[in-house]
Amino acid sequence: MQKIIEGIDKLQNILETIGCHKLFMVMDSSYPFLNIRDRIEKITVDKVCFSDFSPNPLFEDVCKGIDLFKAHQCDAILAVGGGSSIDVAKCIKLAVLAQEERNALIPPLVSKQLTIDGNRIPFIAIPTTAGTGSESTHNAVMYFEGAKQTVTNDGVLPDYALLEPQVLATLPLYQKKCTMMDALCQGIESWWSVNSTDESKEYSKLAVELITNYWNSYIIDNDPYAAAQIMLAANYAGRAINISATTAAHAMSYKITSMYKLPHGHAVAVCLPEIWEYMISHPEHCIDPRGKDYMLNIFCLISKSFGTAGPQESISLFRKMMVDMNMQNPVAVNKEQDLALLVSSVNPVRLKNNPVELTQEVLNNIYDKIIGS
Ligand SMILES: NC(=O)c1ccc[n+]([C@@H]2O[C@H](COP(=O)([O-])OP(=O)(O)OC[C@H]3O[C@@H](n4cnc5c(N)ncnc54)[C@H](O)[C@@H]3O)[C@@H](O)[C@H]2O)c1
Repeated sequence: MQKIIEGIDKLQNILETIGCHKLFMVMDSSYPFLNIRDRIEKITVDKVCFSDFSPNPLFEDVCKGIDLFKAHQCDAILAVGGGSSIDVAKCIKLAVLAQEERNALIPPLVSKQLTIDGNRIPFIAIPTTAGTGSESTHNAVMYFEGAKQTVTNDGVLPDYALLEPQVLATLPLYQKKCTMMDALCQGIESWWSVNSTDESKEYSKLAVELITNYWNSYIIDNDPYAAAQIMLAANYAGRAINISATTAAHAMSYKITSMYKLPHGHAVAVCLPEIWEYMISHPEHCIDPRGKDYMLNIFCLISKSFGTAGPQESISLFRKMMVDMNMQNPVAVNKEQDLALLVSSVNPVRLKNNPVELTQEVLNNIYDKIIGS
């Protein structure tokens, strides 16, 4: 069972509890500028640091980390960073513990939930973006031979998610917007996912309510209290998708990211309102086994959390947030060609979690609205 702890000052205590002597730290290039760095550095254990990777990490990056970990025989892992750092740490942990070593991260083994004893290497994650929720999921994303690879293993869920919202003070404004919108979309998608449970829906509700209440003060006013609420929201959204997984907005976003170089959260956020709009007008294509009325009620509950009279008003509010944050849709240069590529790219696994069936023709129409011109 993961422990969620608030406050960077608890780090020393956690390390003592797990009996750590040599800590393997995974952090990205923002680490030297983080305002929590001094408090991390003063902890009294030996540290081996790994930061030789970039955002959207590659398999080759992870391999360098695996070699370093093994060379130093560390006994615990600490990831400090956004989703990329936490995911690199997860991949290292899996490869170090799996009998199959680094092959555990690549096809065909990556699609099997290999058994590892996650308890052998305690793992602490300190998120420095409020978005991916990776600190509370059992997934990791990395790129193998140019393709996005999702590694899923229960053994890589961090044992401790240590939340310290002060760290968001240095996150660049656009990055804040993108990661927050990723969390909001995760909260919404998880809520309507066909895999949702009572527990995941409770996390979704908390995530959506916190973000719709505090986004303005977080993004526009830079308010520290609001930052704390958004960090919490992102963690709730992570816990929600850890149970239910994401749906069509994520499935449709990946190619938008690579084609138009739009960061992940921005790409998901341009997809979600168009999908939502389609779903409220076509409930007859519901594929959630709980039925159409169940799904329509979920849409109403989401809109209640948005503080709006109904789903249509929530979609308008979502779009207004995007306008207020100056987050625009991509514009295709060659629309027909782009549409064909986009439709053929949609991640089928995520798409299956969507409560309304989206055929190729529907996907085409939705993308047509997203990419403008
Ligand atoms: N594992 C999961 O469950 C999960 C879920 C969603 C997304 N992801 C993955 O997470 C990655 C994206 O993560 P992300 O959006 O958190 O960004 P990131 O980790 O890629 O970081 C983006 C940039 O922000 C900088 N940065 C991070 N925190 C900072 C801070 N506090 N101050 C200043 N700069 C800071 C980093 O140095 C980096 O340059 C993608 O690879 C995505 O696929 C994983």
